[in-house]
This record gives sequence, C-alpha cells and structure tokens, in this order.
Amino acid sequence: MQDLAGKHIVLGLSGGIACYKSAELCRLLVKAGATVQVVMTEAAAQFITPVTMQALSNRPVVTSQWDARAPNNMAHINLGREADAVLIAPASADLMAKLVHGRADDVLTLLCLARPAERVPLLLAPAMNREMWAHPATQRNLTQLRADGAVVLPVGQGDQACGETGDGRMLEPEQLLQGLMAQFQPKLLAGHRVLVTAGPTFEAIDPVRGITNHSSGKMGFAVARAAQEAGAEVTLVAGPVHLPTPLGVRRVNVQSALQMQAAVQAEVDRATVFVAAAAVADWRPATAADQKLKKDGSGLPPALHFVENPDILAGVAASDRARRGDLFCVGFAAESHDLLAHAQAKRVRKNVPLLVGNIGPATFGQDDNALLLVDAHGTRELPHAPKLDLARQLVADIARRLATPPRA
Ligand code: CTP
Repeated sequence: MQDLAGKHIVLGLSGGIACYKSAELCRLLVKAGATVQVVMTEAAAQFITPVTMQALSNRPVVTSQWDARAPNNMAHINLGREADAVLIAPASADLMAKLVHGRADDVLTLLCLARPAERVPLLLAPAMNREMWAHPATQRNLTQLRADGAVVLPVGQGDQACGETGDGRMLEPEQLLQGLMAQFQPKLLAGHRVLVTAGPTFEAIDPVRGITNHSSGKMGFAVARAAQEAGAEVTLVAGPVHLPTPLGVRRVNVQSALQMQAAVQAEVDRATVFVAAAAVADWRPATAADQKLKKDGSGLPPALHFVENPDILAGVAASDRARRGDLFCVGFAAESHDLLAHAQAKRVRKNVPLLVGNIGPATFGQDDNALLLVDAHGTRELPHAPKLDLARQLVADIARRLATPPRA
C-alpha cells in the first residue's frame, strides 16, 4: 500500500545505537510512497553515516545549520515548511531535553522549533538505556513534550545494546511506520473504546491435538489497527495466530471459544463498539482428554462427542447496553456461497445492526478481501482491496452510524 504517497517526511536522527534501525525505517517510508528528507545531528553521524541515509532516501542529508545549499541559506526554516510531518527516530534523552527548553543549537532542534506546529506534527521515537528512560528528568520531559503537542511514540521492552534488559528500546521500523501512518488518519472514533475478536479458536481434543479453522486473523487485526488509527482505545482478543500486535492496541491472547467468551465478557462493559471478526468454532469436544489418545489396535477411530460453543456475539448483542444503543455490535459472516442471503439471515439471527459478509475460502490467509456490509435497510459493497484499506472503510462506516441516530 502506498499509504504515504504525496507525503513529505523529515526523518530526524539524534545520537543512539538505534540509528541502525533508522536505515530500514527510511527504506519503509520510501516504499510507502513518501519523499524523505533525512536530518542528522553530529551524534547521529557517529552511529550511522549520512552516506547510507542519502542512498536510501535518494536525497542529500542535512547535517548542519550552516549548510549553504539552500538558496536562502535557511535550511532550518525551509525543512519545517515543506514537511507533512517530522519524525525523530531515534529521539535521544538529550534531544528531548533540548526540545523541552526550546533550545536550538543544531539543525534538528532548530527546525523543530521553527516548524509551523499547528500544521506539521512532530513525532518522537525515544531510544535509550532503561535507567535513562526511567529517570524522573526524562519522564518529566516526556510529559512536557506531550503538553507542547508532540506525539511521543511508545518504547519497546527487552534486551538493550548495553546488555541490560528493560524499557527504552526504540520501536521496530514497521511499528514506527504504523505510528506515522496513523497520524494521517482522521480521528473518527476519538473517545470510543473498541473491542475486537480475531482469528480462529482452538478446541482441544487431547494435549497434542485439537480442532481449528483456516482463519488467519488478518481482517480482525486490520480492524483493530484501523480503529486505533481512528483515535479509539482498542482491545483485541486474539485466537492462536502469529501476527504482530498493531501499535497502540492492547492484546489478550486466548485459545478456545470459552476463553474467548470469558475475555470478551471481562472487557465488553467498557466498550462502545464490539466487532466480532473471529471465526469461533461452533463445536468443541465434550471433554478434552488429559492424556494423548492412543490407537487401541482395533482400527476404529475414537468416538468424539461434541457440545455447542456459546455464541459470543449473540450473547453480547442481547445485553442491556447493546439493546439500549450504548454498545454498537458488528458481526462478520464467513460464507462459502449465497453470501447475501446468509449474511442477511445471520444479521437477524444475531440481532446486530451491522453484519460484514465475506467469502471465507477466498480470503482466509490473504492480504486482500472484498466485503459486503448488510444492515436492516440494505447492503453496501466494499470492492476488492487490501484488508487494511477495507478495515479503514469499515471503521468510517461504523463512525457514521455512531454519529447518526438509528432510522426507525
Ligand atoms: N460468532 C461468535 N461466537 C460463536 C460463533 C460465531 O461470536 N460461537 C460470531 C463470529 O465472530 C462472527 C459471527 O458470529 O461475527 C458469525 O460467525 P459465523 O461462524 O459465520 O456464523 P455461525 O454463527 O457459526 O453460523 P453458521 O455456522 O451457520 O455459518
């Protein structure tokens, strides 16, 4: 997806070992369609060379406020005026301390101070040792930077270059890209709390086997990401899938339908929107053997008995909050044929205002899909597109419905 097509991004690098990740970030930004102007502090150039960043961005890198190439000799003014966003990755503790005080003794801090702040957002991707991160001075500075309008992206947790383990790692390039893309999405769900289920469930037969399905979770994860980008607080209840958690989304991992139901029940009272995108197994073995089932030599398969799983969506849709209109419920229907008829029937059966139909076998595991939105008044087709694109359209559709009182 050329999500950043037409956008001009100033990518600032301050000093820190995380600069090695900025090369990959630059590549991802260019791949997403952005033009990238790299600006580096003297310290950043100790960690990665401007040559590398110039080759990846296809533009000369700016490293000094005395850079005389601009005809007006005011690189610090021009850079901020031309940008759609300034992303500083890595943002060192020292750089952020300078920004707090409005200091401007190098080209990067200069351009931050000189940029038209109401039009050009400043995103910071902090990177530092865990003690530096936890220090009250750093935390105080972060609070002040947020108050001054900067978007401070979260830090990662884990092994650090210094050999210690803790908070303060810079996010991965793909996560930083997500954070930047989110900046350009309209905040249609600001103030909302969205709960999403995604992926398959796994119903155990014994400790080594179980029943599951082909759902990859990609659509549900895309919905969670799109809702987060739209300004909502998002919780994602995920069945067993190997997908990265969208930036800024809280994830609860589950295996079985019963666990998914328990996780949803624990979260749903806070939600204003519930999107059930999971492919929940309809049946589970009545008992899960606690030891592996062995062949008994008779040649006959073991007799498995099944019980029906609770319908998580129908249960939530029948709650008082959903019926009062305080919780907007959206169902999905993965069908193999007769999509419209099945989707309409399912919407009525589950008693939800909006049902999203798709052809399951055509979409499981794919990055693209096509959706059919079905409500009480008709249908709307969302033609074939990447799942994130469709998820954004769905989120916009939901936001419109939340803003409009239901028709009688
Ligand atoms: N769903 C659910 N709990 C279940 C089964 C389904 O919450 N036990 C939700 C799904 O997340 C989805 C919608 O209900 O939003 C429809 O799921 P689907 O599996 O297509 O429908 P079923 O109810 O299983 O109907 P059928 O098997 O007849 O297609």
